[in-house]
Amino acid sequence: MKLQEIFDTYKDYVAPSYTKVPLIFIKGKGSYLWDIHGKKYLDFFPGWGVGSIGHCHPGVMNAVRDQISKLIFVPNNYYNVPQAKLAKELNYWTRQDFKSFFANSGAEAIEGAIKLSRKYGNGRNEIITFENAFHGRTTGALAATGQEKYMQGFKPLLGGFKQVKFNDLDAVKKAVSENTAAIMLELIQGEGGINIADKDFVLGLRKLCDEKKLLLIVDEVQTGIGRTGKMFGWQAYGIVPDIFVLAKALAGGLPIGVMMARKDLADLLTPGTHASTFGGGPVICKAALAVLTAVQKEKMLDNTLKMGELLLKKLNLLKEKCPVIKDVRGMGLMCGVELSIPGKPIVEACAKEGLLINCTHDHVLRVMPALNVTAGQINTAIKILENVIKEAKL
Ligand SMILES: Cc1ncc(COP(=O)(O)O)c(C=O)c1O
Repeated sequence: MKLQEIFDTYKDYVAPSYTKVPLIFIKGKGSYLWDIHGKKYLDFFPGWGVGSIGHCHPGVMNAVRDQISKLIFVPNNYYNVPQAKLAKELNYWTRQDFKSFFANSGAEAIEGAIKLSRKYGNGRNEIITFENAFHGRTTGALAATGQEKYMQGFKPLLGGFKQVKFNDLDAVKKAVSENTAAIMLELIQGEGGINIADKDFVLGLRKLCDEKKLLLIVDEVQTGIGRTGKMFGWQAYGIVPDIFVLAKALAGGLPIGVMMARKDLADLLTPGTHASTFGGGPVICKAALAVLTAVQKEKMLDNTLKMGELLLKKLNLLKEKCPVIKDVRGMGLMCGVELSIPGKPIVEACAKEGLLINCTHDHVLRVMPALNVTAGQINTAIKILENVIKEAKL
């Protein structure tokens, strides 16, 4: 297909629900992507958080090749070895007692968490979520997200959600009623603009949940699998949630979602109460096992802490030189650069210069390189960003 033919075919045959950038990528390796013209890009937002161990990691490619040559799929009324191994390995990383429910996306895993909290609530059906949250686009996850801009045209959504101010424990306490079953949050609001939960707030939520017998649900779709420097973000806060949700990075680019629940809670999902045809298929689980192996063997958690520190330091230095940078914040390799100008033109100019980043919440640049990023790649990215911001017509 010729270039224009590809764009035209999308226009004619693909639902136009995404804002698209006119780039066509055909190859990826580590932190790099190549477009159809052979131009190389440094990807500092790989796969919206999916590409945490870099594009086409050899461990994942080998695992997938091996599995598809033996058995591509069996449904969940049978057993499969990679699913058993993955559930065990995920639980190992919690250092607690969790069971997994396997699905195919973040939103689907969030739906599982909503259903499980209703089962646990036994009549209590309210979940408290937070302003600027993002939990996905299915109607339940969208109701949990609660942002008007995403909900318009799709109401009525699932009921039973109350949004309160992020990092405001008193607001949460006021919102709790006899109908509340759970509190759900992202520890770092990604789509909401890289807003980091205060440690005291999270500890307070845990205490409140214990006192009121509420479930604490942590959405780790973006923060999970090492992004904060810990395998799961809640480990950086010193709390243990009752339920947490993984997706994006876990299977190295293949679709996965996992709802992990404390064993006694997971056991409420008795046969027939919840299901997902594709969830936990052998190919996906084998890929996810390869991701966990790579994170461990290649010491990516240590690298995330080290490179995260370097990236934040460099971004803060950039802030001193560029008055349009209002704030720099981040944890591990999940960083936000808040601008006083719209971020979209900066993202577009960076792409022209061969650097891929993202803008969220109109003014916040999102920088989330792969966990195996190098100091050299960070230096290159900062140089490009600096030039682009300096040349921006303000
Ligand atoms: C924190 C969070 N939760 C849930 C989701 C939904 O995940 P998915 O797009 O895989 O349904 C996202 C997607 O960006 C997310 O960032």
